[in-house]
Amino acid sequence: MKHVSQPFTDPEFVQNPYGFYDAARAHGPVVFWTEYGLPALMGYAEVTAALRDRRMGRVPPDGLPGFSPDMSDFARAEAFSLLNLEGDRHARLRSHVLRAFTSRRVAALAPEIKALCESLIDAFPKETSFDLVAAYAARVPVIVIARLLGVPETACAQLLSWSHAMVAMYRPNVSAEDARAANDASREFSDWLGHVMDTKRNNGKDDLLTALLDAETHGALTRDECLATVILLLNAGHEATVHSLGNAVVRLLSEGHADSLTAPKQIAATVEECLRIDPPLHVFARYVLEPLEIGGHAFEPGDEVLCMLGAANRDPSAFDAPDRFRPGRTGPTLTSFGAGVHFCLGAPLARLELQIALQVLFERCPDLNLSMPAELADIYHFHGHARLMVTCGS
Ligand code: HEM
Repeated sequence: MKHVSQPFTDPEFVQNPYGFYDAARAHGPVVFWTEYGLPALMGYAEVTAALRDRRMGRVPPDGLPGFSPDMSDFARAEAFSLLNLEGDRHARLRSHVLRAFTSRRVAALAPEIKALCESLIDAFPKETSFDLVAAYAARVPVIVIARLLGVPETACAQLLSWSHAMVAMYRPNVSAEDARAANDASREFSDWLGHVMDTKRNNGKDDLLTALLDAETHGALTRDECLATVILLLNAGHEATVHSLGNAVVRLLSEGHADSLTAPKQIAATVEECLRIDPPLHVFARYVLEPLEIGGHAFEPGDEVLCMLGAANRDPSAFDAPDRFRPGRTGPTLTSFGAGVHFCLGAPLARLELQIALQVLFERCPDLNLSMPAELADIYHFHGHARLMVTCGS
């Protein structure tokens, strides 16, 4: 296996990781990424096969690494998160969440999402430059998920601050201060949610939190499972969608005909292509549970492997001219939402939000323009813009 070196904190790499992916893939679909100290799957076939293979999982064969006692609140939210469960426990919890997260509930949100986008755009400053992430991209997903869950919208700012503190734990080299902040956020989030859940019981509402509470009442879910699920939905449902929306805006502006790309007939294909060419999450790890071979390399139980979603989406053996933006292209399914048993549960909601948010934005602001060059945030693990300074005309 060829060793390749690329510091993931290198600013140039963070702005454009695709050149490294191509160079690494040229050595074969599986390389050893020195800075991670791990094998990395760079090819589409290898990434999707690994994500679908039941001999691999998100949890190591000997269980999740323990947390120190002062991280107990974060550890509890993690222990019952769908992302950290496998096998029957994962299937049982996921089926309950899916039952509550019906396509009817998601589709019914369309008019509300449109009205929300319109009202946020109404409040855009006229003729002055402003940050589109703060004013739009970061607002839509959190308000939508709060409404879907049925938690008070007035809490959105607080939810965001808890969410940011918790997801900071998924970066490498977490500082003691960040870990403490993540644990504090987990405790405050759980306490607040427990209180909201108690006030919601038997309120007859048709929201996701009430559905989860019903499952708890009937003994199908425990309180810890309900709490961890809501925390995961808020965290997972937010960050990735914000970054996808920002990345898509930058892409559409650079293509130069955002109006036709976001026209009703075109928007679904445009969103798929935006998600393929610049996904917000590039890397997810898997552990080998049983001996297996990937891309001609043998792996043993306990081995950790990186599945490079961002590289797989640009693999020329899967996508013709992968660096070209071609909505409606033929080719396999993108890897941006993962694959297999952990496939993104929020994919239909994310697609709906992105389609509506982009369509309304370019319809209402046909003169939208960047007022400063767009720069990706300096964090490889969340590929997106911390801010996007724009003007949207008069
Ligand atoms: C464009 C936006 C989004 C992207 C790119 C994205 C991406 C992903 C990916 C790649 C995974 C799989 C991780 C793995 O296999 O290790 C995942 C899982 C998940 N996502 Fe998303 N996501 C997005 C939006 C959402 C939204 C809006 C929600 C919920 C409201 C959500 C909820 C979840 C949940 C609950 C899981 C865990 C599923 C499981 O373990 O069974 N995501 N997402």
